[in-house]
Amino acid sequence: MKKPKTMNRENLTHNPAEQALIAQLIEANQEHLFADWDEPGINDEAKAAFLADLARINSSYPGGLAGYIANARTLLAEAKEGSNPFEGCVPHQPNPVDLTQFDASYDRYEALGKAHFGKTAFVLVAGGLGERLGYSGIKLDIPVEVTETTPYLAHYAACLKAMESRMETPRPVPLIIMTSEDTNAKTLASLEAHHWFGLQKEQVHILKQELVPAIADNEGHLALEKKYKLVLKPHGHGDIHMLLHTSGIAARLHAQGYEHLVFMQDTNGQVFNALPAALGVSVEKGFDFNSLAVNRIPGEAVGGLARLIGNGKDLIINVEYNQLDPLLRATVSPEGDVPNERGFSLFPGNINVLVVKLASYTRILESTQGIIAEFVNPKYSDATRTVFKKPTRLETMMQDLAKLFGPNERVGVSVFDRRWCFSAVKNNVADAAAKYKAGGPPESGATAESDFYGAGRTRLSVAGMTVNEAPETLILDLPMTPGPRVILRPSFALTLEEVRTKISGGTIRGEATLVLEGENIRLENVEIADGAALVIKACAGAQVTVRNLKVANDGFELVRLTEAEMQSEATPEYLRIRGYRIENRGAKVYAFTTPGTYLIDATGAVGAWPVQRPK
Ligand code: UTP
Repeated sequence: MKKPKTMNRENLTHNPAEQALIAQLIEANQEHLFADWDEPGINDEAKAAFLADLARINSSYPGGLAGYIANARTLLAEAKEGSNPFEGCVPHQPNPVDLTQFDASYDRYEALGKAHFGKTAFVLVAGGLGERLGYSGIKLDIPVEVTETTPYLAHYAACLKAMESRMETPRPVPLIIMTSEDTNAKTLASLEAHHWFGLQKEQVHILKQELVPAIADNEGHLALEKKYKLVLKPHGHGDIHMLLHTSGIAARLHAQGYEHLVFMQDTNGQVFNALPAALGVSVEKGFDFNSLAVNRIPGEAVGGLARLIGNGKDLIINVEYNQLDPLLRATVSPEGDVPNERGFSLFPGNINVLVVKLASYTRILESTQGIIAEFVNPKYSDATRTVFKKPTRLETMMQDLAKLFGPNERVGVSVFDRRWCFSAVKNNVADAAAKYKAGGPPESGATAESDFYGAGRTRLSVAGMTVNEAPETLILDLPMTPGPRVILRPSFALTLEEVRTKISGGTIRGEATLVLEGENIRLENVEIADGAALVIKACAGAQVTVRNLKVANDGFELVRLTEAEMQSEATPEYLRIRGYRIENRGAKVYAFTTPGTYLIDATGAVGAWPVQRPK
C-alpha cells in the first residue's frame, strides 16, 4: 500500500479519547484511514460517524482495534505460508457415547438430564444472515410446522417453559440470544409482539454481536469502502464466547448455581428431542464439553469430530471434512476416511449443539477473554499470496471453543440418530433440491417440517402405538413424508418415559394428524384414521383421558402451492420456502380451558365432572 500523505492530526478531532485512538491506530500502521481528510467544516458528519465506528469496534473487541490488527497480521502471515494447522497431529476416534438406540441407558440419561433442568441455561446463536435461505425476516420467526404455524422461537420458549414445569422448585431457565445488526431489531420486535413467547422478560438476555473491520492486505491495513467508511463484516458465531465473557453473563450464571450451558442454532426443531439425554450424559460422565453429533458417511460435507494427538496437545475437535480426509491419508489411513461395518465414518458429524460445563467455561473465558481460535480465509489473486481478491476478515466458530479444552478436561461426543436431533432450515427450495439430488441433506423448510413430524411419530412408536407412515413424496423435488403429522408439544412430553406413561396402544395412519398440548393428557387405544385429525389442548390442571376413541374426519389437508401461488407476494414467505400449505378441513379439536378431570369416551363425548364442552 502506498504511503499516504501525512495529515494534520490536531485537525482530525478535538475529542481526547478519539485523538488517543487515532494515535494508537497510526502506531498500528493505519495512517491511510486518516489520509486526505477534508479541512474542518467539510464532511464533518461523515468523519464523526467514522470515528464513532472505530470507537465502537475498539471497545467491543477485547484488546481493541490494535489487538485485532495484530491478530490479523499473525494469522495472515500463517495463511501466506500455507501452514497446515494440523501438522504433526494424528487423528483418533473420539470414543463417542452411542445414543442412537432408545434402550434402558437412553432412559437413564434422560432421567438424569431431566433432574438437571434447573441447573441448565440456553444460548441461541441467531445473528446469521441466512443468505443461503434468502428469507426476508429472521429465521427465528419461521414456523417449524404449518399445521398450527409455530415459529422456532415459540417452540424453543415452549420447551423452556416445559422444563420449568418439571423442576421440583421451578425457576426460569435463562435464555441468551445472540443477535447481530441484521437480526437484532427483528428479534426484539418478535419477542415484544408475542409477549416474550410466555417467557419472563428477565430470563431472556440479548447479546448483539458487532461486525468487524475487513482487512485489505497481509500488513493488516483496514479496508475502506470509501473515505470515512470502513468495510465491516460478520465475525462468525464464535463471537458468542466473547460476548458471554464481556457481558459477565457466563460468570453470573455460574455464580447463581447454573452448571451447564447449552449452545444451539436458530432453526433446529429437533434439538430438544435429544437434549435431556445429552444433558444426562454430561452429568453422568462429568463432561466439561459435550458435542452432540450424528453418524456421518465418509466424505459427507459435515465437519467430523476427531481426537487429535500431537504437538503436545490432545484435543477432541471439529475437523472440516475437506481437511479430515487428507489428514487421515497423511497419517493413519492411506485410504482416507473409510466406513466402518455400519457404513459410517469413525468420525461423527458435528451438529453444533454443545453442552458445556459452566465451571470450566468461565475459567477458560477468564484466561482467553472469550476470543476463541480466530481464523482467516483470504482468497488470493496472485501466486505469491500477496494480493487479496477482496478484503478478508478474522472469523470465529462457536465449536472451536473445544480447542481450549485439553486432556485436563473431560471432552465427549454424544451420537444421536440424525433426524431425532438435527434438521435445520438453511437452503432455499432450488438449492435444497440440488443438494438432495447430489445425495446431501436438503436442509429446507419442508424437510425440517417433515423431520419434526417424524420425531413425533418416533415417540408414538416408542410408546407402543402403531404408526403406519404415508409414503414419502416429492414436493418441489424435495422429499417429504406427509404423515402422520404428529405434534407432541413440549408441555405434553419432554422425555420418552413421559410419552410411554401417557400413551398406550392405538393406531395412527397415513396422513392423519395428532396434536397434544398439556401436561396431563392420556391416550388409551385411540385410533386415528388416514387423513383424520385429533387436536387436544388442556390447560394446567386439566386432566384428560381419551379412551377407545376412533377418530375419523376430514382432518387437515396438505395442499401444494400452485406455480402462481409460489410467485405471488400474497402467499406468505414461510409457505413459499416449502411449497405447500396445510388446511383444516374438519379436524376434531378439544380445548379444555378450566382445570378438572375429563374423559373423552369411544363416542367422542366429553364426560366426568365438571363437564367441559369441547369447542
Ligand atoms: P449458519 O451456518 O446457518 O449460517 O449459522 P447463517 O449465517 O445463518 O446462514 P448463511 O450462511 O448466511 O446462509 C449457524 C448458526 O450460527 C448463527 C446463525 O444464526 C445460525 O443459528 N450465526 C452465524 C451467528 O449467530 N452469527 C454469525 O455471525 C453467523
